[in-house]
Amino acid sequence: MKDLSPRKDELEPIEIASIDEIRSTQLERLKWSLNHAYKNVPMYKQRFDAAGVHPDDLQSLSDLAKFPFSYKNDLRDNYPFGLLAVPRQQIARLHASSGTTGKPTVVGYTKGDIDNWADLMARSLRASGLRAGDLVHNAYGYGLFTGGLGAHYGIERLGATVVPMSGGQTEKQVGLITDFQPDGIMVTPSYMLNILEQYHKLGMDPRESSLSVGVFGAEPWTDAMRKEVEAAFDMHAVDIYGLSEIMGPGVANECVETKDGPVIWEDHFYPEVINPETGEVVEDGELGELVFTTLTKEGLPMIRYRTRDLTRLLPGTARSMRRMEKITGRSDDMIILRGVNVFPSQVEEQVLATGGLAPYYQIELYKSGRMDAMRVFVEATPTAADNLSKTASARMLTKHIKDMIGVSVEVIVGEPGDVERSQGKAKRVVDNRGGN
Ligand code: DLL
Repeated sequence: MKDLSPRKDELEPIEIASIDEIRSTQLERLKWSLNHAYKNVPMYKQRFDAAGVHPDDLQSLSDLAKFPFSYKNDLRDNYPFGLLAVPRQQIARLHASSGTTGKPTVVGYTKGDIDNWADLMARSLRASGLRAGDLVHNAYGYGLFTGGLGAHYGIERLGATVVPMSGGQTEKQVGLITDFQPDGIMVTPSYMLNILEQYHKLGMDPRESSLSVGVFGAEPWTDAMRKEVEAAFDMHAVDIYGLSEIMGPGVANECVETKDGPVIWEDHFYPEVINPETGEVVEDGELGELVFTTLTKEGLPMIRYRTRDLTRLLPGTARSMRRMEKITGRSDDMIILRGVNVFPSQVEEQVLATGGLAPYYQIELYKSGRMDAMRVFVEATPTAADNLSKTASARMLTKHIKDMIGVSVEVIVGEPGDVERSQGKAKRVVDNRGGN
């Protein structure tokens, strides 16, 4: 793999500023953001008043803990524009997430917000090892989802060439990658596997592709998956994190030279990790729920937004700003199986560690009598698809899951192609338990 590490002089000064400088920028911006939200969004005024706090009570960064949280439901309850802090006429763009239940959540950006977003995405791409003049294939979905357009503006801001492919049409994706010879690809990790499979179907060697870096995010993926994709394409696989409510992609991004968890762009987002049960802030290094406060957002400031993503804050390495540990799951994705907490990503690690299995999987939850039970659907690789090998792989995976995660599950090894393929964010869990 090529060495893509950026030189120090290619970075923005704030990326390698002293911690003191970063903290003082944050404090100044946090004061502005709390005031902006309090003055312009009725919900925040009511909540702060009810909690007996005022933006002037913030004297130090740790005072933020006195302020109330905000939640995804707040966006639904104020659908569509109730949380905007500027008149709708000043909103340059809207995005929305469909969500599985109820109303979509709508987010709005001023021109200034779009500008900051493009800058932060360009910073993220530089951290990933891309540069001005590179060609980038963008297979994140365009439209209301923040992935496609968020990445698009960042690629342009970096001074690179964007191919606005969007998701789907997998055969065409491979055709364009072959013809245009991109340096980088931006796509969900699960859809990248779909693209990989297409290479194999066409009898092409993915290691011969021009790609030297993939910027993967929008869903959890493991280090085991990183190794799989890096080996298959002979390229770097870098993690990009973000969420629509806070901005979209580019809230945090891994550095290609360390690949040790996304660096949070702390000059624009203030992170806290809390105990999800008590709401108390935990020490850096401890696992909990990630909470963000936006520091510069004009259109939709979010104060102490509960992401439901589980991670821990880690000290800076390649940059001064703190990192977050690669996300292994969301509190919503946690399966409690006979008292044991299980995340789909733990199953992913075991699937990838089992010989004879392709890297595709889906988990089904069902009722076995009154108990919850779990079935894992995987598929054999083409060279291990005979009955004997399939039985052996099933037995191995069952044992790995029992030994490493501590739960007994049923494993079904299908034929190559049997597991549903992702078109964007993969659906890892199908819940057939019904109501109680
Ligand atoms: O998925 C934004 C995005 C687009 C990020 C493209 C990266 C690349 P939402 O649709 O609002 O926004 O979903 C946000 O996706 O709270 C996490 O649970 C999950 N997520 C996003 N990035 C990662 C990641 C976009 N790198 C939700 N690792 C977040 C794990 C991720 N989970």
